[in-house]
Amino acid sequence: MKIFVDTANIKEIKEVYEMGVISGVTTNPSIISKEGKVFEDAVKEITEIVGSDCLIFAEVISLEADGMVEEAKKLAAIHPNMIIKIPLCKEGLKAVSILKKTTNVKTACTLVFSAAQALLASRAGASYVAPFMGRLDDIGAEGAELISDIAEIFAIHDIQTEIVVASTRSPLHVIQAAKAGANIATVPYKVIMQMVEHPLTTNGLAKFMKDWEKVPKK
Ligand code: E4P
Repeated sequence: MKIFVDTANIKEIKEVYEMGVISGVTTNPSIISKEGKVFEDAVKEITEIVGSDCLIFAEVISLEADGMVEEAKKLAAIHPNMIIKIPLCKEGLKAVSILKKTTNVKTACTLVFSAAQALLASRAGASYVAPFMGRLDDIGAEGAELISDIAEIFAIHDIQTEIVVASTRSPLHVIQAAKAGANIATVPYKVIMQMVEHPLTTNGLAKFMKDWEKVPKK
């Protein structure tokens, strides 16, 4: 399972990109709004940091299919690795279908909360579906169960749409997504840092350093 970073913060993207652990960057309107930048500028800045090995997900704002299609085309023109996030709704599915039939623009259906929605997104032609794990857990539902249901359905029917697990809030969510068969988990910077840390690693390194001081030197 690949890891994406779920942020538009340039410093955070740079740091995890340099660690070599990410294969993509995901944004949404809430994430972009935190940076206080013009949307297109924020997206362009991200494309300047990550290499050609990284995908960049940006979301359309229109609520009607025609507007979504126009926005998607403009965003896709910014960088060859742009994937356009389109919300799961009637107009969104229509936009995904138009883009699939008439362009090379790749789409990700976002705000997916059921296996039925994921199946529709794949049939409409989305390259990715983004089920929101944490937000389901927030309302007392089983986020991990949804991911394994979608993975099972896609495997049975040989559906090529990739599952990008969104709304991951902890290292446990990332591991649950991986075990459930997700292709990608998009993970906040803070959670990637939590994944790096383990108290036994920290203590072990401190002990190695301390013991090294006792080793006779030339
Ligand atoms: C991804 O792009 C999603 O929009 C994001 O992971 C949602 O996360 P949240 O539920 O923590 O806001």
